[in-house]
Amino acid sequence: MHEAIARLRAEGLARIDQAATNEALEAVRLALLGRKGELTRLLRGLVDLEPAQRPAVGAALNELKLEFGAALGRRQSELAEHHTAAAVCDLTLPGLPPVVLGTAHPLPSVLEEICDIFYGMGYDRDEGPEVELEYYNFTALNFPPDHPARDLQDTFFLGTDILLRTQTSPVQVRTMERRSPPLAYVFPGRVYRNENADASHSSEFFQIEGLRVDRDISLVDLRETVAAFVGSFFGGERPTRFRPHYFPFTEPSVEVDMQCMKCGGRGCGICGQSGWLEIMGAGMVHPNVFKAVGYPDDAYTGFAFGMGIDRLAMLKYGIDDIRLFYENDLRFLRQFRGVL
Ligand code: PHE
Repeated sequence: MHEAIARLRAEGLARIDQAATNEALEAVRLALLGRKGELTRLLRGLVDLEPAQRPAVGAALNELKLEFGAALGRRQSELAEHHTAAAVCDLTLPGLPPVVLGTAHPLPSVLEEICDIFYGMGYDRDEGPEVELEYYNFTALNFPPDHPARDLQDTFFLGTDILLRTQTSPVQVRTMERRSPPLAYVFPGRVYRNENADASHSSEFFQIEGLRVDRDISLVDLRETVAAFVGSFFGGERPTRFRPHYFPFTEPSVEVDMQCMKCGGRGCGICGQSGWLEIMGAGMVHPNVFKAVGYPDDAYTGFAFGMGIDRLAMLKYGIDDIRLFYENDLRFLRQFRGVL
């Protein structure tokens, strides 16, 4: 009897190991432990044994039953693992959902969109350093030595004459030093101001500067350029107006307003009931700036403008807090999937 048990054990374990599919394994289980299985048959045969032999044989059979059970379980998980490994290697299977796609950040997207509009008008693009000399950020731009904007209040100074640029206007100067007119450029980039952050202020933000210099450029060219840009960026016919303003590096200087796209000029919360939204500073390049870059007296005229990219993005997409651009909360960023 013990020999029969030993043979069944060896055979049974081998068959379990060789079962290649779940179905084959189930067939082996039935053949061993099913109602008509071999082990079951031996258990039933216990009654035919001498009473003295029964306890030992019974115990051996029960042990074998447990051993088969454990071997069946082990083989079952091996088959399951094998199955998953094969599936992972099957390159034709679709990806496991959800496949989360990244999105472009709205600021660089809007920056590129604005540049594209100006490329369409024949503009080139250049960039300058964020760590800038005081000379380019202020002096060459005709800021008087005691101008309040040079004050530590607004500017992050890194040394006596070196700072984080507060505007993209210094790139005008760097470009004019290297090139002669005619020229038409946009200069996008990050700027810094020592300001407390709130819903409409951030100590870092993006600007885009425009510069066009040639013979006989006038304020009319500036108006046409601004109107074409606003129409392209915001869509449709959108009235703009110039208000007199002061910048040291332009004369005359203006601030440009666009009719509020929310209320169409009737007045609402977005435009502070005025019907107009300020979108940029601009003006005709000051003769002292031409002098600083070494252009001959009275040979050229030009216009320059500067706009806040963050502000334009906020107006276009109805975003009410500039800080959202810099916190990179995925719930905010994911809203731009497919929009930009
Ligand atoms: N640099 C100005 C600013 O930061 C904007 C500007 C650019 C104004 C060019 C006129 C011409 O406010």
